[in-house]
Amino acid sequence: MSLLRTVGLICSQVLVNNAAATGGTFHITEDGFDVQMATDHFGPFLFTKLIAPKLEATRTAEWVPRVVMVASEAHAMGPGLNLATVRRPDGDGSDQSDPQKSFLRYHEAKCACVLTAMELARRGEGKIRAYGLHPGTIPTNLVHKDSLAPVLKSIGMLNEDGSPNFADPKFKWKTIPQGAATNVVAAFDPRLDDKSGCYLEDCNESNHTRAPHCTPETAQKLWDLTEESVGETFVL
Ligand SMILES: NC(=O)c1ccc[n+]([C@@H]2O[C@H](COP(=O)([O-])OP(=O)(O)OC[C@H]3O[C@@H](n4cnc5c(N)ncnc54)[C@H](OP(=O)(O)O)[C@@H]3O)[C@@H](O)[C@H]2O)c1
Repeated sequence: MSLLRTVGLICSQVLVNNAAATGGTFHITEDGFDVQMATDHFGPFLFTKLIAPKLEATRTAEWVPRVVMVASEAHAMGPGLNLATVRRPDGDGSDQSDPQKSFLRYHEAKCACVLTAMELARRGEGKIRAYGLHPGTIPTNLVHKDSLAPVLKSIGMLNEDGSPNFADPKFKWKTIPQGAATNVVAAFDPRLDDKSGCYLEDCNESNHTRAPHCTPETAQKLWDLTEESVGETFVL
């Protein structure tokens, strides 16, 4: 998979980086990245860099273009992003067939989404606004992937037969339209005009649920490391 086989949903004024590779077998892409980090972080970073001039061209007196990084509350379910292994995990990757390890990599990839939104907001001040978010818990294809389902079963989110556990109120399942709502808010809601860089949940700013390990310092380091890794500088 090349880095540009990534999914960004773009309209003329907004880019939503939404893709996530949670279900595939672990492998290293032709660019030398593990597939989760390539899909969730390196690809969206490069795509955003390449499309940024077109986004910037849509800026008007009333509108500053936006980039939305679809992250997850999973970004807070672990120790944070290890910058030393951001390109690929240590070893030959054989341990990634362990769902817990694969989930930890998902956690790291989603940290990268949160951090990129923070740093893009800082670097793009006045030119591009950026937001990170958790869309909610939604019964999409993602929760049924082999790499995630065992972990979700172990925490009771899925029943043993793999169906969503709607009975336990601790899991606040959303319908697909409800799951899309926070993305739409991040993309268009004028309440966020002065909140670039924030993290969202349930259609509102939710910086208090952004993990403390997602610091501005880590965000800057990740940006620099990512530029080096993809061989492109991203200047706004
Ligand atoms: N569902 C949830 O409960 C939940 C919770 C928190 C965060 N999220 C986030 O929400 C976003 C959307 O996820 P979803 O729930 O809609 O999951 P999904 O149904 O699995 O959708 C994931 C999307 O990513 C694409 N994708 C996967 N691997 C790819 C690759 N290597 N290259 C390009 N595209 C690739 C898939 O395209 P193909 O089908 O063509 O492979 C699919 O369109 C993700 O960023 C996810 O982390 C979801």
